[in-house]
Amino acid sequence: MGKDEKIKKIKNLNKKIVLAPMAGITNGDFCKRFKGLFGIVTIGAYSLDKDSLNASREIVKRGREEFIYNLDDFGDIIRDEIKKARESNALVSVNVRFKNLEESLERLKIISKHADIIELNCHCRQKEITNLGIGQELLKNKELLRSYLIGMADLNVPIFLKVRANFVGLEELIETLNYTRDYFDGIHIDCFNPGKDYADLEVLKEISKNFSDKIIIGNNSVKSIEDAKNMLRYANFVSVARCILRGDIEWIKEFNAMEM
Ligand SMILES: Cc1cc2nc3c(=O)[nH]c(=O)nc-3n(C[C@H](O)[C@H](O)[C@H](O)COP(=O)(O)O)c2cc1C
Repeated sequence: MGKDEKIKKIKNLNKKIVLAPMAGITNGDFCKRFKGLFGIVTIGAYSLDKDSLNASREIVKRGREEFIYNLDDFGDIIRDEIKKARESNALVSVNVRFKNLEESLERLKIISKHADIIELNCHCRQKEITNLGIGQELLKNKELLRSYLIGMADLNVPIFLKVRANFVGLEELIETLNYTRDYFDGIHIDCFNPGKDYADLEVLKEISKNFSDKIIIGNNSVKSIEDAKNMLRYANFVSVARCILRGDIEWIKEFNAMEM
C-alpha cells in the first residue's frame, strides 16, 4: 500500500477517539485490553538511539516509567508490540524520539514496515530528553526538525508530529510547522494550557485553520463526550491519555455508539 492510500485509510476511520502515548505504559499489551474502543492506538514513546535511551534510563532512575530494552533487539521487540497493539482493532501509531537520525534510521525503517503512522515526539519535557535538544526543544529548532523529517521522507508511512501548545508562542509554532510542512502528514497537538486543567482550543482552532491539508489530532484533558465534541470542531480526531489511566472509558463506548 502506498503512503497516499495509508493516509486515506486514516481519514476514513469512523472511530474518532485515539489513545495518546504514555512512555513506559502504552505498549502492545496495554492497547489490546481496549478492543474496538479506539480509531488509532499510539504506542511509545520509544527511544531509538543510544543517547535517547540513556536519557530514558536516567528518567527511570528518578521513578518515572519509560520503555527500556536492548537496542540490538529493537526490531523484534517493536514488531511484537505492533502485532499485539493490532489486537485492539485500531490502526497503530508509534511515537519515537532520537538524537542521532543516522543511528536510528534502520529502526525507523522497521517501524515503517509494520505500523500505520510514525509520530515524531516534539512534546516531551523531561529534562534528560530536552538536554539533548529533542522532545519539545525541537519546536525551537526548525532546522534540526526539518533535517530529521527530510531523513525520514522516504519511509513509506504517514508521519505525524506530536507537539505541545504554548511551549513556543502560536506564531512561532505555526512558522516552524510551515517550514517543515512538506515532510509531515499529521499534527497531534497537546493543547496544553499552562496553569489550567482544560485544553487551549484557540490554539487548536488556529492550527487547524493553517494546516487544513493535514490530519489533526487534538489532545488535552478530554474526559467526556462534550469535551470530545468541542475538540472535534477543529480536529479530525481527539486523543486521550490520563482518563484511560483512571479507567474512565464508558463515555468513549457511548460516543462510539453515537457516531455509528
Ligand atoms: C505518564 C505519561 C506519559 C506520557 N508519555 C508521553 C510520551 O512518551 N510521548 C508523548 O508524546 N506524550 C506523552 N505523554 C503526553 C500524553 O500523550 C498527552 O499529550 C497528555 O497526557 C495530555 O493528554 P490527557 O489530558 O488526555 O492526559 C505522557 C503523558 C503521561 C500522563
